[in-house]
Formats: sequence, C-alpha cells, structure tokens
Amino acid sequence: MQKTYHWGILAPGKIAHKFASGLQFVPGAKIQAVGSRSLERAESFAATYDIPKSYGSYQELAEDPDLDVIYIATPHSFHMENTLICLNRGKAVLCEKPLAINSGQVEAMINASRQNQTFLMEALWSRFIPHIIKTKDLMDAGVIGQVSHLEVDFGFKARYDPDSRLFAPHLGGGALLDIGIYPLFFALHLFGAPDKIDAEAKLAATGVDESCRVKLTFSGNRTANLWFTLTEDTPVEAKLTGSAGQILLPNRWYQPVNITTTKDDKPEEIAFDFVGNGYNYQAVEVQKCLEAGKIESAVWSHHNSLALMQVMDEIRQQCGISYPSEKAGI
Ligand SMILES: NC(=O)c1ccc[n+]([C@@H]2O[C@H](COP(=O)([O-])OP(=O)(O)OC[C@H]3O[C@@H](n4cnc5c(N)ncnc54)[C@H](OP(=O)(O)O)[C@@H]3O)[C@@H](O)[C@H]2O)c1
Repeated sequence: MQKTYHWGILAPGKIAHKFASGLQFVPGAKIQAVGSRSLERAESFAATYDIPKSYGSYQELAEDPDLDVIYIATPHSFHMENTLICLNRGKAVLCEKPLAINSGQVEAMINASRQNQTFLMEALWSRFIPHIIKTKDLMDAGVIGQVSHLEVDFGFKARYDPDSRLFAPHLGGGALLDIGIYPLFFALHLFGAPDKIDAEAKLAATGVDESCRVKLTFSGNRTANLWFTLTEDTPVEAKLTGSAGQILLPNRWYQPVNITTTKDDKPEEIAFDFVGNGYNYQAVEVQKCLEAGKIESAVWSHHNSLALMQVMDEIRQQCGISYPSEKAGI
C-alpha cells in the first residue's frame, strides 16, 4: 500500500500556491501543515487547500512531529536559515531554487543534511519534467548528430521596485538567481561543467543584475549562449543544435511543453501526456527518495546544486554583484 507523506509548507507566498496545487496530483502526498510569519496568512492558505494545521512561525512548523517533509518557499536569502531549522529537527527538506545565495551557504546546507542524515533537495522542478528528460535522452542517443550549441533565454518585464524580491539585494535580487538559474541549469545538465564562463550584466540601480548574457564553453567545442533579463519579454525558448538537426523547446521551455526535432528541414513534434501543473514531478521524486531512505536525489543531487551555484558565484563575481550578508561573512 502507498505510504502517505505528510508535507509542511513553509512561507505561503506565490510559488507555494502553485506547489500546493501541484501536490494534489502526487499519489500519497498530503499537506498536513503550513507555517507563515503571520498566523492569519497561514490560516488563509490552509483554508484554500484544506490543510489541518496552521502555525504563525516557521519554528513551530519545523517542530511539528507529524511532518515527514517541509517545502521551503521564502525569498532566496532565507533559504539557508529556514533549511537548517528544518534539517536540524530531522525534517526532510525540498527548498525552492536557488538553494541559497552562494556556494558557501549551499555547502553549509549539504553538511547539515549529512550530519542529520536528513533528505535535502533543491526544488529545481524543470529537471523532473518529462520533456527536459526527453531532450537529454534524444541528444545522448545522437538523434540530431554531434551536438555543438545551445541557445536559451528567459526574460520578462518586471515592474521595477527596489524593495521587491526581484530587485532588493538583501532578498538575493537579480535576474541570475531568480530566472538565469534555469538556462544555466539546462546548459550544465546537457553539457556538464563548463571550461570557460564569460558573463556580462547590466545592473539595476540597486546593484543587482537586471539583465545578463553568458557564454559558456564546454569540452568538445560545445558552447551555450544564455540570456536572461527582468527588463523585457523575450522568446523564452531553448534551441539545441547538432550536426544533423535541431531540438526546439518552445515558449516557456522550462515548463511542460511539447518539443520539436528538425532533421533535413522536416519538423516532428513530440507530445507528452503531462500530469498536473509541472510542480508535482519534483515532489514525486522527493517521496521516492524518502521511501528509499536517501538523503539526496540522484536525479538532482547535492553536487548538482553546488556545481550550479559555483557557476552563479563566478558569474556574479565577473559582473560585480554581491549581497549584503556576504560582506559580513556568508
Ligand atoms: N519554481 C518556480 O517556478 C518558482 C517561481 C517563483 C518563485 N520561486 C522561488 O520561490 C521563492 C519565493 O518566491 P515567491 O515568488 O513565492 O515570493 P513571495 O510571493 O514574495 O513569497 C515569499 C514568502 O516568503 C515569506 N517571507 C519570509 N520572509 C520574507 C521577507 N523578508 N520578505 C518577503 N517575504 C518573506 C512570506 O511569507 P510569510 O510572511 O507569510 O511567512 C512570503 O509570502 C524564491 O526563492 C523564488 O526563487 C520559484
């Protein structure tokens, strides 16, 4: 019989709503509790999803003995602190992307997972969606020949608000950590660790990146051009080019979409029977790992999160972007 996993939701903001909707499609998942800095907000979220328990602090949520796993959805700069509270109380954690704001913080989180022998995974949801998995399988099978280049972008026009999560340095603002992480993850997933990183950013008045272009060079003469921005709507497509054709992931390529392979100028669409809203796939993986008693996923491992963050650290260094807490240490 399928075991029931009791989930807690830490911080009921925008993405927590999408995640809670996605969990409805995960067999064996039950949202048992929600924690907010305000009991009123927790209760309002609980009413929407029929959640039995509400807490007015993250600490109380972490201490709930009935929870198997906690999903963390605060702004980036709080991910480490919130994750450590949960791991140190023996609660498995699925933490929103980016796992933290820099690789020092990611290392501290991985260490806590190991010391507590408690599961930790970054909620890099795209990694688990079938069309992303299929694209790599097609590439590895040589369907478009020798692959040489990835062109990928992610941009939308955000309203400039220096105090918002997207632009405020103390909340880990900037295009890179919020949306650039998707093109970067995809390039690293397909091609491995880059040999060379060349990044250029345009900074907002708050000092975080509002736009960024990155060229990555990999072994075997493979390259990737990445563009991400908070200042304009871009195609939001990914195009993988090989000696025998192309694979196109169309608009909002990081969400569930059908993909097209083109060979000899003949396009062929590959359609998927997607389930839920896309956020469910990562939760299925979490439950599989918990069932198997693992402290990390082999699909999106601790090492994967750390390697991705190290590339983001290097990009920020090249572009002159740092966060207030880094000046004081971590
Ligand atoms: N996977 C995805 O597709 C996706 C999409 C969007 C965002 N995200 C990630 O999810 C995280 C949250 O993003 P979001 O768009 O959901 O943000 P949001 O709507 O602003 O929600 C964040 C929540 O964190 C809590 N919080 C705690 N300290 C806070 C502070 N000092 N300032 C603001 N909020 C604070 C708040 O809940 P309470 O005060 O009620 O506790 C707030 O509702 C980010 O790390 C982001 O990268 C992922």
